[in-house]
Amino acid sequence: MLGANIGIDLGTTSVVAFVEGKGVVMSEPSAAAYEKESGKLLAVGKRAWDMIGKNPDSIRVVKPMEHGVVSDFTATKHILKYILSKICKNMIFKPNVVICVPSMATSLEKRTILDLVTSAGAAKACLIEEPLAAALGAGIKSTRPVGAMVVDIGGGTTDIAVITMGCISVSRSIKVAGNTFDEAIARQIRRERDVIIGDKTAEMLKKQIGYSFLRDVELGMTVKGKHFITNLPVSIEVSSTEVYLAMRPHLEAIAEAVRSVLELTPPELSADICESGIYLTGGGALLKGMDKMIEKKTGIKTFIAKDAMNCVALGTGEALAHIDILSQNGYVFKARDEIGGLEPELSE
Ligand SMILES: Nc1ncnc2c1ncn2[C@@H]1O[C@H](COP(=O)(O)OP(=O)(O)O)[C@@H](O)[C@H]1O
Ligand SMILES: [Mg+2]
Repeated sequence: MLGANIGIDLGTTSVVAFVEGKGVVMSEPSAAAYEKESGKLLAVGKRAWDMIGKNPDSIRVVKPMEHGVVSDFTATKHILKYILSKICKNMIFKPNVVICVPSMATSLEKRTILDLVTSAGAAKACLIEEPLAAALGAGIKSTRPVGAMVVDIGGGTTDIAVITMGCISVSRSIKVAGNTFDEAIARQIRRERDVIIGDKTAEMLKKQIGYSFLRDVELGMTVKGKHFITNLPVSIEVSSTEVYLAMRPHLEAIAEAVRSVLELTPPELSADICESGIYLTGGGALLKGMDKMIEKKTGIKTFIAKDAMNCVALGTGEALAHIDILSQNGYVFKARDEIGGLEPELSE
């Protein structure tokens, strides 16, 4: 293959890569593992993620985008390098990359990421806002003068935006999303049952018996943890009601944030949203009953987008295909020397 156009969703939980003509080709956890003393890179992506909670003291596992901001540029660069080298290993020319970064990233972080992508192997790079990519990936024809609402529920942040004519009209990002649910479940079990469970176990409970509403018929799941007082391993049965009660305040926070964006939306765009509905994207949209919960709290019909977890990456692919239209709104590919203005230690 000569070269390619690549779209990357640099998410708080996972990095998803899209290749023009092929579709989504890769999805890896946003994680990197290092030897603590020497700082040597040991693993990236799934291999690093598998070490979380099981790593010895000598190994440090970093999730550099976990809270919606870039907390570790070196780890971010290692993740990008890994993705690009895997995709481009048989290519002659460097690829052009459209990249989507966590919406809470500051403009310095965004510019730094653009620079990191080009230093990681891209010929030219272009940034796109997450909600816009999510809308494009959800199949919303966002270049038309018709308002549409997208709610992207990721791991670290929930991003709510009203899109019209390829631009974001109103948006809000809150740090309540998939990881918040996991933390709340673990906290509840520690408080009520005196058992400490790991993040991955809490996530498993959420995916298996987590619902956005109180079920009439309770479900149960047996999980393993450590007793808070004796420190010994224990096995306990957790109910869907306990999981729901732990998540409830955070579910309400998401619904409230959606309502607040609707309140700020100009009337003509509001009318469009009433007509077309709300689209949910991101892994958090897969929590059972999320669509019904938002529909109930807003009175607006709500849909889970097809292939919700890959929507943002698919949207970067859509952006690659329509870069001419998007360029009218200022989305332009830039080469490394056009980005500029960075601290020298970051631009290696
Ligand atoms: N079936 C599911 N039910 C509930 N939550 C899910 C499900 N699948 C994935 N998630 C959650 O989605 C979140 C990750 O979503 P994703 O869109 O990949 O995040 P990001 O864009 O922040 O990388 C995680 O918190 C994960 O637990
Ligand atoms: Mg995302």
